[in-house]
Amino acid sequence: MTDATNLDGAVTLITGAGRGIGQGIAEVLSERGAVIALSDLDADRAVVAADAIKVNGGNAFPFGGDTTIQESMDGLAAAVVEEFGRIDILVCNAGVIGAPGYQDRVDHTEEDWDATFGVNVKGFVHTANAVAPHMQERNAGRVINIASHGGRKPRGAKAVLGNVQAPYSVSKAAVIQWTHLLAIELAPNNITVNAVCPGTLWTPMWEAIAENRKTADPELAEFSGREVFEQSIRDRMPMGREQTPRDIGKAVAFLASDDASEITGQALNVNGGAVMN
Ligand SMILES: NC(=O)c1ccc[n+]([C@@H]2O[C@H](COP(=O)([O-])OP(=O)(O)OC[C@H]3O[C@@H](n4cnc5c(N)ncnc54)[C@H](O)[C@@H]3O)[C@@H](O)[C@H]2O)c1
Repeated sequence: MTDATNLDGAVTLITGAGRGIGQGIAEVLSERGAVIALSDLDADRAVVAADAIKVNGGNAFPFGGDTTIQESMDGLAAAVVEEFGRIDILVCNAGVIGAPGYQDRVDHTEEDWDATFGVNVKGFVHTANAVAPHMQERNAGRVINIASHGGRKPRGAKAVLGNVQAPYSVSKAAVIQWTHLLAIELAPNNITVNAVCPGTLWTPMWEAIAENRKTADPELAEFSGREVFEQSIRDRMPMGREQTPRDIGKAVAFLASDDASEITGQALNVNGGAVMN
């Protein structure tokens, strides 16, 4: 690892990288020289995303893996170490907005709490449990957790968002606290742990959020999901534009670089100023 633009040869494991934000992070880090172990619950999606990076001259290798299962993450970490000898950078990105059927619900269910905490919180814990010992052995490493600005500021009227987003927001607040705790734990091993809090990005996850908003607010029924998203950008973004997966990738690249060696336990908003703290 050298500077923000050069991650030459850094072995990087990214979860949930088959599409959306994880895929954007993989692209940016690859362009900066990292070797990408690209994992996803949907192994076929990981293959397609890795192929896209390879076509552009990068080094990306697809892996399956379910972050909700500790043994699955242990196996993933062992496979990456076996293949590349080490893991320099871990990006915990895999996340869900709620349980299946989220789009159609206004109120959260037990299943929404289980799904969001299972993937967004325990999934991050399982992944760190699997990877941190390899980093500790080498006294080096970077962990970057993808949280959300939704984990920092309550936003709420039920008529607008639907209470169903409550479990997600609470799970993302938990990711930030998990980041703090892990940063303290791993600091003596020269491992930094930070969170990136994305703002509003048009990925499959936000397509579901838009559908949910239409369920919660009949006045939105006539609009397309993309139009609901654009309205949200106009209402909430001081800079007036959406973020992209590559924007998140650039923040991750910085936190993974030597330029960020004294930054740990922080949560960085990449959200055009939509939430400030
Ligand atoms: N899209 C946004 O506006 C936004 C905003 C803030 C934070 N985030 C966060 O960014 C991350 C990525 O979001 P996205 O919008 O790209 O979502 P997405 O739904 O488009 O992609 C998520 C990926 O994670 C994978 N995944 C889900 N569960 C998994 C599991 N148990 N194990 C392994 N992989 C799993 C999925 O297969 C999928 O490929 C999430 O943590 C999300 O909460 C997104």
